[in-house]
Amino acid sequence: MISNNMKKIFEIGLVPLIVLEDAQDAVPFGQALVRGGIPIAEVTFRTDACLDIICAMKTIPGLIVGAGTVHNVAQAQAAVEAGAEFIITPAYNPQVTQWCIENHIDIMPGTVSPADIEAANGLGLEVCKFFPAGVYGGPKTLKALAGPFATMKFIPTGGVNYDNMNEYLDLPNVAAVGGSFITPSDLVKAKDWDAIAAHCQKIIRHMLD
Ligand code: 3PG
Repeated sequence: MISNNMKKIFEIGLVPLIVLEDAQDAVPFGQALVRGGIPIAEVTFRTDACLDIICAMKTIPGLIVGAGTVHNVAQAQAAVEAGAEFIITPAYNPQVTQWCIENHIDIMPGTVSPADIEAANGLGLEVCKFFPAGVYGGPKTLKALAGPFATMKFIPTGGVNYDNMNEYLDLPNVAAVGGSFITPSDLVKAKDWDAIAAHCQKIIRHMLD
């Protein structure tokens, strides 16, 4: 069953990947996402500030906050305690996936092969991340997967960018695209929150082209 949060994410069609060093930047960053029309944050465990960022972003009305780059159950549990509403793993991780299902937390496990997808499908999941999409055949692979996995939807990430995003989004089995291109790292480093909001708006316009 797809949750209301997930429905909102798929309506928007974009999952910004957040890599932030300083939790003090979390609120202005999250507000920029909301202003930019992409009120979703996949806050990654790639910095020590991850849990503090999740806590801070959760205070922003309308922002859907989840955790990404989750490698184990301890991280998933800590992220949910901090307020994460969804979990994304880079690879298919049976323990994290099972824990999320048991605890009724939205989980989008990383998959890249029919074996991974079969495992997720067997647990009743309807949406998987597809990573690293560009290296593993991109839209061509997703088209091939639509045959045997007719009901599975994907969120490709890894090599998705402004130029190729619509090629992915046009596929019927793509629920959304994700990645770092939505909030470019140079703008994040510069703490240029207005430019990030403007960039999000530009991506939304491009999606509707
Ligand atoms: C991910 O974890 O989804 C990827 O690292 C995103 O890759 P990208 O930087 O190419 O968007």
